[in-house]
Amino acid sequence: MGIFGRSKVTAGLDIGSGFVKLVVVDHSRGDPEIVKIATGPLVQDAIVEGEIMDPVLVAETVRTVVDNAELSRAEVVAAVGGHDVIIKKIQMDRMGHEEARDLIRWEAHQHVPFDMESVQLDFQILDPDGSGPQMSVLLVAAKRELIENRLALLADAGLRAAVVDVNAFALHNAFEHSYPDSMVGVVALVNIGHETTNMSIMEDGIPVVVRDIPFGSRRIREALQRERGLTAERAEAVLQGGEDGVDLEGFVAERVDELAVGIERAVAFITAQSGGDGVDRVFLSGGGSQVPGVARALADRLGVTTHIANPLERVAVSADVNLKVAVDEVAPMLMLPVGLAMRRA
Ligand SMILES: Nc1ncnc2c1ncn2[C@@H]1O[C@H](COP(=O)(O)OP(=O)(O)OP(=O)(O)O)[C@@H](O)[C@H]1O
Ligand SMILES: [Mg+2]
Repeated sequence: MGIFGRSKVTAGLDIGSGFVKLVVVDHSRGDPEIVKIATGPLVQDAIVEGEIMDPVLVAETVRTVVDNAELSRAEVVAAVGGHDVIIKKIQMDRMGHEEARDLIRWEAHQHVPFDMESVQLDFQILDPDGSGPQMSVLLVAAKRELIENRLALLADAGLRAAVVDVNAFALHNAFEHSYPDSMVGVVALVNIGHETTNMSIMEDGIPVVVRDIPFGSRRIREALQRERGLTAERAEAVLQGGEDGVDLEGFVAERVDELAVGIERAVAFITAQSGGDGVDRVFLSGGGSQVPGVARALADRLGVTTHIANPLERVAVSADVNLKVAVDEVAPMLMLPVGLAMRRA
């Protein structure tokens, strides 16, 4: 309970294609504390390539997860991402925030390949204290339809959105909280999910290249099914480390190549722009980072050490978080929902 009995609790909801995840953070004391964690698997193909194919089923799964967490209020912080969200660092004439707000639509017009009428914009001046004639601005454009669909889905699950954030910012938020010392140099944050990898390359803590790569644990599972004749269940068990007798490491190395290429391209883009000699550190998160061999294969391929980032590294977790499995087991999957719940709604 906060002052005047008003609850200062934020619920972060991440609707992934593999799992729906909910993290509830209590902000009423000085440091944030996680008081609830709930996850629930989604039925195969309910979400494909970021698109919600079966809204009824997804809303039901969300409802189940929310009920498991015994959420007392219907308000959540949610997020959108994918092709219909563009994050871009741009340069524009130096001006104040208010003035920039008036001009941002016109500026965005030159950088965003969407119909400006149907787009929601947000921005942040990255160097407000700078003095040059130009300033760096992080521009965010999201198709309005994407946000409306997300709100409708939440409504179907009996929820309201306090805020609709952007996936990449939530990941950044959680990462910065647990790894404040990694806000220097070129750092890659690579969140490997079930279908999608959210990649964010930061330069001194500012996300300069933000991109989704169509790669996830599903890709490895399907390759196991196809090339080794495993059933979907068995292949999934192998991925989750529960079955021996399959040489996963070599198999994974080949599949991870595509992901490595995506990261290399982004890093090459940055070094071409601002010099330097490549990526300093790579942090992995997401369920896909848990697949045996993935972290090592990426490290070998990129020639950099990879670290598994734990979004709970510096966040207190309440003793009665009420989770059926060990917190450590789900932690890697929670980077995004933790980042959402860290916001004081
Ligand atoms: N312990 C584990 N070991 C290996 N893999 C795991 C483990 N736990 C989960 N996974 C894999 O991670 C996937 C889920 O990861 P995550 O929750 O990050 O993805 P998602 O957010 O649902 O998907 P996306 O963001 O791509 O839509 C599962 O589909 C599973 O294959
Ligand atoms: Mg995800």
